[in-house]
Amino acid sequence: TVVRREDYAPPAFWIDTVELAFDLDPVKTRVLNKMRLRRNPDVAAQALRLDGEDLNLARVLVNGAGCSFKLDGETLVLENLPEGQDPFDLEIFTTCAPEKNTQLMGLYVSQSTFFTQCEAEGFRRITYFLDRPDVMASYTVTLRADKARYPVLLSNGNLVEQGDLPDGRHFAKWVDPHKKPCYLFALVAGQLVAREQRVVARNGREHLLQVYVRPGDMDKTEHAMNSLIASVVWDEARFGLPLDLERFMIVATSDFNMGAMENKGLNIFNTKYVLANSATATDTDFSNIESVVGHEYFHNWTGNRVTCRDWFQLSLKEGLTVFRDQEFSMDLCAEASARAVKRIEDVRVLRTAQFPEDAGPMAHPVRPDSYVEINNFYTVTVYEKGAEVVRMMQTLVGRAGFAAGMKLYFERHDGSAVTCDDFAQAMADANPSSDLARLLPQFKRWYSQAGTPLVQARGVYDAAARSYTLTLTQSCAPTPGQAHKEPFVIPVAMGLLDAQGAELPLQLAHWSQPEAGTRSFVLTEAVESFTFINLDSEPVPSLLRGFSAPVVLDFDYSDAQLLGLLAHDSDPFNRWEAGQRLALRRALNAIRADGPVERDPLDAAYLEAMHTVLRHPTLDAAFKELVLTLPSETYIAEQLDVVDPQRVHAVREAMREQLALALHDDWVWAYETHKDNGAYRPDPVSTGRRALAGMALSMLCLAAHGNGDLVWPGKAYQRFKDAGNMTDRFNALASLVGSGQPLAQDALARFHAMFRHEALVLDKWFALQAGATDRGGNVLPAVRRLLAHPDFHLRNPNRARSVIFSYCSANPGGFHRADAAGYTFWSERVIELDAINPQVAARLARALDRWKKLAEPYRSAAREAIARVAARPDLSNDVREVVTRALAD
Ligand code: ARG
Ligand code: ZN
Repeated sequence: TVVRREDYAPPAFWIDTVELAFDLDPVKTRVLNKMRLRRNPDVAAQALRLDGEDLNLARVLVNGAGCSFKLDGETLVLENLPEGQDPFDLEIFTTCAPEKNTQLMGLYVSQSTFFTQCEAEGFRRITYFLDRPDVMASYTVTLRADKARYPVLLSNGNLVEQGDLPDGRHFAKWVDPHKKPCYLFALVAGQLVAREQRVVARNGREHLLQVYVRPGDMDKTEHAMNSLIASVVWDEARFGLPLDLERFMIVATSDFNMGAMENKGLNIFNTKYVLANSATATDTDFSNIESVVGHEYFHNWTGNRVTCRDWFQLSLKEGLTVFRDQEFSMDLCAEASARAVKRIEDVRVLRTAQFPEDAGPMAHPVRPDSYVEINNFYTVTVYEKGAEVVRMMQTLVGRAGFAAGMKLYFERHDGSAVTCDDFAQAMADANPSSDLARLLPQFKRWYSQAGTPLVQARGVYDAAARSYTLTLTQSCAPTPGQAHKEPFVIPVAMGLLDAQGAELPLQLAHWSQPEAGTRSFVLTEAVESFTFINLDSEPVPSLLRGFSAPVVLDFDYSDAQLLGLLAHDSDPFNRWEAGQRLALRRALNAIRADGPVERDPLDAAYLEAMHTVLRHPTLDAAFKELVLTLPSETYIAEQLDVVDPQRVHAVREAMREQLALALHDDWVWAYETHKDNGAYRPDPVSTGRRALAGMALSMLCLAAHGNGDLVWPGKAYQRFKDAGNMTDRFNALASLVGSGQPLAQDALARFHAMFRHEALVLDKWFALQAGATDRGGNVLPAVRRLLAHPDFHLRNPNRARSVIFSYCSANPGGFHRADAAGYTFWSERVIELDAINPQVAARLARALDRWKKLAEPYRSAAREAIARVAARPDLSNDVREVVTRALAD
């Protein structure tokens, strides 16, 4: 059944307090739930309907006495409740089976430890409840369990009592001082150890920070703890938001559907986003941990103190919190250039993952209008595009104005469940003379209209008038259910460069004087023109600096203009973007050309420009690595109307090989000068150096693959064995695997032997092989062998993702096979996973979202594979919604 945003109605009852008592047992856990409820005086009197799922109901008491109830499907219905406004007690006793819970929603067991995941609708799998975020209650939780097997008993808030019970059992009682929606409930019970840190806040209050892990993992908790401390400090410094709890806990589990969860005071994390030391984690892992720890911590205010009225408002907390974690990571960068690198990385995610979503069958507004399964809407649109919408608000009101808007938002809404409108209104009201306030209703189209706007820019230089007229035309293609779009509010940050690359002052005719540097213009109409005056020659526009809006910018740059921007633009984002445009143009030309794929698609001018960047005396290594990285196959494919994935793959590989060979000496130089970085530190400078050295090594191995040279594969193998940290070791291994070196097999075997007890490292080992460059169709058979490997466990989401997603979603060259075997593999895995874990299965189901763009024979084969999945009678709502939308026209 479809849930619609317009059907929102407030709850007929409020739940003020909840007392939960758990007798934890993996086979049969007993849950006693005592609630105090009252009728919502604003809603007509009606029956109480409580959500439940996979529960065994044993007893229902109202005010201590038996009462009549019925089950409508899985909903518990109570019709004869006391009339009037007085509160009453409702006691419900149920049992559930955590050990059988393979969905990982509700209460489940992972490696003999109990965990919960309640967002979005998992609490109903623990007890009957009004499982909706606008019902906020005070929780008291008592946990009882065998003391030897479950020595640590955790829940939200403060530990108020603990002690022993007969028969080797013990208990702990937790009281959460803050009201919360049930999706923020959590409990953990098991054998865990904690790294602890006491911090004193600005107001002098002391807090206890804890990171709980399995006993063997203590040596991998320092970075998560440092990230947590930095998060506490940052939120107080930047937004004046203090930690509101005596104790803040993070617990890691290796079985988790998503990245992490912001349960009040008791965040539960995928181990992938907690555990790191230099021997087992890469620089990317370190930086992801910093972001995710920050993200979950920042939810404590944006999500928990102020929460969502309903799940359509998910971006209220997620878009805002992603924006906050992005800003946090940027503010931790000492150098401006490192901030720019972070921005480029964030935009790259948006454009390779969100733009395709916005153009495909699952396209939806940042605030969706309907869903079948809410879990399918934890998307890059709600998260990353939502963050861009918040970022545009900051652009429109300024940094100080944004902080004022946040302050007003909390003054108005602390302790309540609100909507995206409420947030935008607070931002506008705190900045009454801003462009945001002036344009608020139109700005909010970013929340209601799906699809990526296209901004087409055209420039005309009038030598006689010494003026340059820039015309910007915006449009947005139809998306499912939205045939026609109204114009968006689009902030365009821009500058003008002269032919030598020097920044020109900007002056519109009605301005009294020119202004130097970047200026923002706010588009509101379908077509708008700006005439800049006092220009002695035709300028080169640098448009959408810093990626000031989540749009596709089309401007017919000449190669010379792009080379100029790459060499000189003062905006690092656009400098990088110019390089990407040059590469993209060459890729598209080679893809669209007739006949077999050209061996050398790159011209001397492009290669010379890349040589110059690589050897540049002042650019950061991290920035160089980004510029030298070609646009991904996915991004290239999005630019085409009809996609032959094998041709895209072949062209990009040809470009890579040419770059490897043509810049051989530069790669040698880059490797030799960046490979040694002393003791491992995950800071942006040494991370950038390792990234560039790693890229250089992979290019040198690729060049060796072409010319049969054995020197660099030998060096890579040596590096693989001697490396002092996982980043260097893994890059060396990936260089061997990626270039198909005979030494790769031996290195893979050694790597496995070295890390066979490190689950997260084994995930990398699996992912590297499943994502390897396809050579003559060799990846699929390898993937099938990996599924039979004794260390492969389909039930573990990280492991399933490391093999199946790495192949189906991250390896287009290996996956899109003319014989359709990749699609057959996909459909088998979707069906198999759906019986275990619908959320993970539905993510995998999205791998074929863009099937309609495929050329034949891929297109028909993909449609058949999706139809095969859709024909299954027993699908989950999750997978059913995805495949139904994929097949709709
Ligand atoms: N709120 C969590 C976060 O963004 C994600 C939880 C997603 N859970 C789910 N079942 N879809 O940090
Ligand atoms: Zn979040």
